[in-house]
Amino acid sequence: MKKVRIAIFASGTGSNAANMMDYFKNNDTVKIEFVLTNKQDAPVSEKTIERGVQLITCSNQEVDKLGFILGLCESKNIDFIILAGFLRKIPTDLIQRFKNKIINVHPSLLPKFGGVGMYGMHVHEAVKKAYETESGITIHYVSENFDEGQRIAQFFTSIQKSDTPQIIQHKIHLLEQMYFPFVIENEIKKFNESDIINL
Ligand code: GAR
Repeated sequence: MKKVRIAIFASGTGSNAANMMDYFKNNDTVKIEFVLTNKQDAPVSEKTIERGVQLITCSNQEVDKLGFILGLCESKNIDFIILAGFLRKIPTDLIQRFKNKIINVHPSLLPKFGGVGMYGMHVHEAVKKAYETESGITIHYVSENFDEGQRIAQFFTSIQKSDTPQIIQHKIHLLEQMYFPFVIENEIKKFNESDIINL
């Protein structure tokens, strides 16, 4: 049976990318084909190389150039794209070609704390400032508008008054580690072989 081929895009620490690579290692139906990063020095690079997965590094200009990432994904017969802390806007040609095949994890309960400029620690600082009593993660499909694609799942955690943005970040990372690969696996299962894009 043809394996579902996944590309992971990441720009930072890479804890989600690493978790995903470990979760799907030697998987019968899913293969992580490559990890793409737009930040050469990001820790995700080392985590990818350590795990023997192909690392592709590109510049922000290349990410923004229509056809560049699309061509890359087509040449590798990619079926699904996972955004794991990828901090660059996804080009529209890729979104159109991979409709309902690009999945992002966002570190808040969307629609709260989403949109331009809301990523990583900025989100947790905003959550703290707003005196929220809970936060969480949203796993969603990617559309042309930042953080507005169809939601797949949300997971919650409570916030104590004494929680710093760093503690909130830690709680969010735990949720991501626990649920993100599992949700991806579930989404992929919904597509049988005939639904897989044959590029
Ligand atoms: C994750 O918390 C992810 O939710 C967030 O960046 C972090 C990356 O951590 N994504 C966004 O903020 C996207 N708007 P990681 O590099 O350790 O996986």
